[in-house]
Amino acid sequence: MTLLVTGGAGFIGSHFVLDWLACHHETVVNVDALSYAGNRMNLAALADDPRHVFVHGRIGDGALLERLLEEHKPRAVLNFAAESHVDRSIAGPAVFVDTNVAGTFTLLEAVRGYWQGLAEPEKTAFRYLQVSTDEVYGSLGPLEAAFTETTPFAPNSPYAASKAAGDHLARAWHHSYGLPVLTTHCSNNYGPFQFPEKLIPLMIERALEGAPLPVYGDGLQVRDWLYVGDHCAALRRVLAEGKPGDTYNIGGNAERTNLEVVNRLCAILDEARPRADGRSYSAQVAFVADRPGHDRRYAINATKLAAELGWVPDERFDSGLKRTVAWYLSHRAWVDAVKSGSYRDWVARQYEARA
Ligand code: NAD
Ligand code: TYD
Repeated sequence: MTLLVTGGAGFIGSHFVLDWLACHHETVVNVDALSYAGNRMNLAALADDPRHVFVHGRIGDGALLERLLEEHKPRAVLNFAAESHVDRSIAGPAVFVDTNVAGTFTLLEAVRGYWQGLAEPEKTAFRYLQVSTDEVYGSLGPLEAAFTETTPFAPNSPYAASKAAGDHLARAWHHSYGLPVLTTHCSNNYGPFQFPEKLIPLMIERALEGAPLPVYGDGLQVRDWLYVGDHCAALRRVLAEGKPGDTYNIGGNAERTNLEVVNRLCAILDEARPRADGRSYSAQVAFVADRPGHDRRYAINATKLAAELGWVPDERFDSGLKRTVAWYLSHRAWVDAVKSGSYRDWVARQYEARA
């Protein structure tokens, strides 16, 4: 038995592949374009593992996908591949449409052709899982009820709009062609291997560099945070037991303002790696120009997943954050390699303009 995973050298995809191979004997074919966010160091533990087949390629390459599907005959395809950073999508949306919309279309078409050619019982058992985000639902007011699976899509950023478009295509491929599609909408992930453009690793790294900690606007925007290992466990559950055509929200029950997250990170670092001058890292907090169209609040109602598939998150936010800080402090070779690449240009462009 084989799984085909796309984007499995990125943050969440690499955790999924590592966790999967830790508890299953199936082969995982991992197709990744190795964009700035893809990193083979995340998969170093699998270097000698014959169950992991890495393929450097794009989800927009239909011929490659058709060949891989025919060759490996997977029982499921999980689509993690995406451009995933909101600020980059505002600075340059074209690649988001290219990968998240056109790439998803090409992948769905290749999967449809393969699936239609399967015999029973493989055809009925096959699954396509579209890994998506809560950002497709738009922004909530402070007292509004959390997003459910029936909340209408109202994406606000080019990233969210491109993910919503990909999700609509996946939905239609189920409705029109019967492809057994599962879709998940997850809240903000954090944990090891996250590219340090996203809030939590960015703040850890800038704190250690002695640089300003750039909080957008008033810092009172709210996100729900989920430890990446919990996300992967939820995906395994949905893959195993989800109902084709259904969507599932995945959340961490951990709504926090950005300022709370940054101050908590500073407090953890104050203990783990005190500043030389004895002051708190929170002295480095700097309020900077807000993100254009910044969504105020995301909150996930994940009761469907709990009630129907019995999944609830394991990690508490506080302990997950401590684990994450400890990982970044003890994996400097990974961090240094990542920071020597396109990270530098991005941070220079993004934060000099904002300061
Ligand atoms: P990431 O940016 O860390 O990784 C994306 C991976 O996709 C990289 O390895 C990259 O090389 C690869 N990729 C990019 N374009 C590709 C293409 N055209 N073909 C093949 N591979 C390509 O992203 P992530 O945080 O791991 O997110 C993974 C998925 O989860 C995305 O679909 C994202 O929308 C979704 N998601 C992320 C979060 C989060 O908080 N990070 C939350 C909910 C949902
Ligand atoms: P981010 O990690 O980019 O995830 P998303 O935009 O997908 O939720 O950002 C999380 C929150 O942190 C978001 O409200 C924007 C805010 N933020 C900052 O205040 N400063 C920063 O430098 C970054 C990267 C994000």
